[in-house]
Amino acid sequence: MSVSIVSTRPFDDQKPGTSGLRKKVKVFQRLNYLENFVQSTFDVIGDFAGQTLVVGGDGRYFNREAIQIILKMAAANGFGRVLVGQGGILSTPAASHIIRKNKAFGGLILSASHNPAGPDEDFGIKYNISNGGPAPEGVTEAMFARTLEISEYKILQAGNIPLDTVGTFQLGEMQVEVIDSVHDYAELMKSLFDFPAIRELLAGGFAMKFDAMHAVTGPYALRIFEGMLGAPLGTVMNGAASEDFGGGHPDPNLTYAHDLVDIMYGEYAPEFGAASDGDGDRNMILGNHFFVTPSDSLAVLAANADKVKGYRGGIAGIARSMPTSAAADRVAESMGLDCYETPTGWKFFGNLMDDGRVTLCGEESFGTGSNHVREKDGLWAVLFWLNILAVRKQSVAAIVQEHWKRFGRNYYSRHDYEGVDSSAASRALQNVRDKSPELPGTQLAGRTVSTCDDFAYTDPVDGSVSRNQGVRVLFEDGSRIIFRLSGTGTSGATIRIYLESYEADASKHDLDAQDALAEMIHAAGEISGLRKLTGRDAPTVIT
Ligand code: G1P
Ligand code: ZN
Repeated sequence: MSVSIVSTRPFDDQKPGTSGLRKKVKVFQRLNYLENFVQSTFDVIGDFAGQTLVVGGDGRYFNREAIQIILKMAAANGFGRVLVGQGGILSTPAASHIIRKNKAFGGLILSASHNPAGPDEDFGIKYNISNGGPAPEGVTEAMFARTLEISEYKILQAGNIPLDTVGTFQLGEMQVEVIDSVHDYAELMKSLFDFPAIRELLAGGFAMKFDAMHAVTGPYALRIFEGMLGAPLGTVMNGAASEDFGGGHPDPNLTYAHDLVDIMYGEYAPEFGAASDGDGDRNMILGNHFFVTPSDSLAVLAANADKVKGYRGGIAGIARSMPTSAAADRVAESMGLDCYETPTGWKFFGNLMDDGRVTLCGEESFGTGSNHVREKDGLWAVLFWLNILAVRKQSVAAIVQEHWKRFGRNYYSRHDYEGVDSSAASRALQNVRDKSPELPGTQLAGRTVSTCDDFAYTDPVDGSVSRNQGVRVLFEDGSRIIFRLSGTGTSGATIRIYLESYEADASKHDLDAQDALAEMIHAAGEISGLRKLTGRDAPTVIT
């Protein structure tokens, strides 16, 4: 087997976004496109000669082809060993765990998360470092710089590895181990949660549904819920993973997880419902006719961590992304813990966890996780909730309502305008920036504006600074309106507007969030001029 050195020319659009490089499959299929990105990554991540690389993806269209190319490039570039999930499958949190457990140099995760899959849809790739978390900005910037000057890549001339067969194979000098995609991850979950107690709960007639949305969590959920925890067959719905995710949009929210939502808001709704996304890192939690916002979910998990085996010893601190509601801050305060506010994207939590400053992290975008891995983790959140339900023996709604009574309720909603014209989107944000000097002290949505700024973050561990992370309008009563452009889309721009208002009075906790936030929603439209600029009169998705 020989190594080929292939000449190539740079592409100018390989800048990783919030979570790696995401493009249409057709773009990734262009001659040398994937190869350029992989070689650029290998060129900047340091000396990995003889070391281990982890490779796996969410199983979407092009996953298998991409993995064969990556394996041959890893061999040609001098890795000693690659661990790859059977069939090319590893959920994002499972990949993070495999990297950590095997002390790998890093990993390549193939996913475009919740974006639709198939020949005309999306593909993605991201590099995770040895702590199991997404590469920090310094690394992704170096990768991008390298993509702009690359002139050749190395690849081994060899046959394909039989990805469906668990076992060890030789690829030139490198070993490829095809591993069971689920086993190690399931064992990790068993070490964190009280499986016998959850088993007893499920055996006692407690009904739950988990929607795998035809994506990567199918095999994980079937093995854990219906296998290890003895939930009845059929508990996992849409559990057969397919390359196009059943033609759906595997984003676990009230809009896209409609199969599950119909059941949970239907006549004979189970007590508990949950869903995860394309690559298994997001989660949505539902009770019988009850939706738990991701921001509240983080706060509830933190407040109940003492009831769960893996966290009983105490949690170090909590971190949330800036647009996530401040519900968790109140819990942290009552527990005497630090609460960190980071920019959007899981990569900002890595340093805080590595430094022992935080245990639990969350984002409003249906992402929750802990220091057990360095990615958010959908099934982990579902098991955490099940563990709490098994201990408290109350309904989901009762647990959340009691939480509000104790800490107050942070009414919260996110409005997304998807696929809008990029310049109109930038203009809408600029409109708010332009007004920001005059806004403080004025009345908006019946409240007084206190500050208006562009969020910037200084990492307390390594001192790195990230600027322009969202335009914030902050009010004296703690309410907030935040404007941000998505960094994960593949066509046009997506404007995200985050709305939050705090209500301490328990007699006012049963409003619909859209009603409670109506004045804020109106104000957001006014100051950004969004409707006029985009020609849209309503958001595409409301969560
Ligand atoms: C979105 C979410 C963000 C999350 C990311 C990856 O990014 O908002 O919280 O970390 O997906 O799942 P965005 O499109 O807003 O840049
Ligand atoms: Zn995801």
